[in-house]
Amino acid sequence: MGKERNNNRGRGKSRKADLKLRAKGRTIPGTHVPVLAEKVLTTLKPQPGEIVVDCTLGYGAHAVAFGKRIGTNGRLIGLDMDGDELAKTQRRIGKGGARKSFHHTNFSKIAEVLKSEQLDGCDIIFADLGVSSMQVDNADRGISYKSDGPLDMRMDKRLAATGADLLITLSEEELSKALWELSDEPDHATIAEWIVNQRCITAITQVSQLVRLVFNVKGMTERTWQKKQKTARFGSLHPAARTFQALRIVVNDEMGSLRKLLEVAPSCLRAGGRIGIISFQSGEDRLVKQAFDQGYSSGSYETISKDAIRPRTKEVITNPRCSSARFRWGKIHS
Ligand SMILES: C[S@@+](CC[C@H](N)C(=O)[O-])C[C@H]1O[C@@H](n2cnc3c(N)ncnc32)[C@H](O)[C@@H]1O
Repeated sequence: MGKERNNNRGRGKSRKADLKLRAKGRTIPGTHVPVLAEKVLTTLKPQPGEIVVDCTLGYGAHAVAFGKRIGTNGRLIGLDMDGDELAKTQRRIGKGGARKSFHHTNFSKIAEVLKSEQLDGCDIIFADLGVSSMQVDNADRGISYKSDGPLDMRMDKRLAATGADLLITLSEEELSKALWELSDEPDHATIAEWIVNQRCITAITQVSQLVRLVFNVKGMTERTWQKKQKTARFGSLHPAARTFQALRIVVNDEMGSLRKLLEVAPSCLRAGGRIGIISFQSGEDRLVKQAFDQGYSSGSYETISKDAIRPRTKEVITNPRCSSARFRWGKIHS
């Protein structure tokens, strides 16, 4: 009894520490908190024996939840363009329950994946776009402005160009357009101009160099911004957040992949099949909305979500990273 009480106290303490970490927008190292998990299940309604393609496997939290619903007669196909994280997740969730297979591939290739599995379609397509906490927290990937490292940003190491490469090859106009269209950066033109000026002197290869450049454009230093944060009632977005987001989206051709997935999805779903997509950025959400609206008008989809489903305040408090999440879904004719 005594031992059990002690164990519970320990768990309670570590649970509190986990909640504190998550409220700061951070995650327990090496893990990822699934976004809108309940809503995804109640909307897409996975049934025993169904085939689910999780296009963005990540840590596998959504996939495990799907797996429990489809049971041992179901089939779970997990895709991820990040081979390193895919291998870890496969080791963790690969055994037991539904029959599972894993593919190190871009979800734009979903039709090829189904063909390779000798399937004529699936019942559910799910995608939780963007990057995982493990990728953001890994300084070697250079995805986040939070810690210094090489400006790589590739989710798939097979991609040819890193963020640092694109900061050399993209024109000022291309940089400015990306910053505006992919992250609504208000200082897009000046940041692009400064990048082009800076690269004539020295290549921008490190996270810290790009962060400093953005601070300079905005007339602040990291210290003055941090000081302002302490007195602000609500924390504000880091000045470099939009720049990093836009560059990452270009490096990984995230909009191109999403466009392709949306284009082929109706033909990859069986009768009565459902698709659900969680996006984190207005450009992505617009693409999803337009594709579902068009699919509905053309008769490909029988039903689509009327509005985007957003996380409740309670979920945002415990997992601030999900604050910009928008979930949309569509259903094919039965
Ligand atoms: C937000 S995380 C998904 C988290 C996951 N739902 C979970 O519960 O752990 C996004 C994942 O999708 C992957 N990803 C992003 N774009 C992709 C694409 N076009 N094709 C395949 N995987 C992609 C990323 O590498 C990352 O692991």
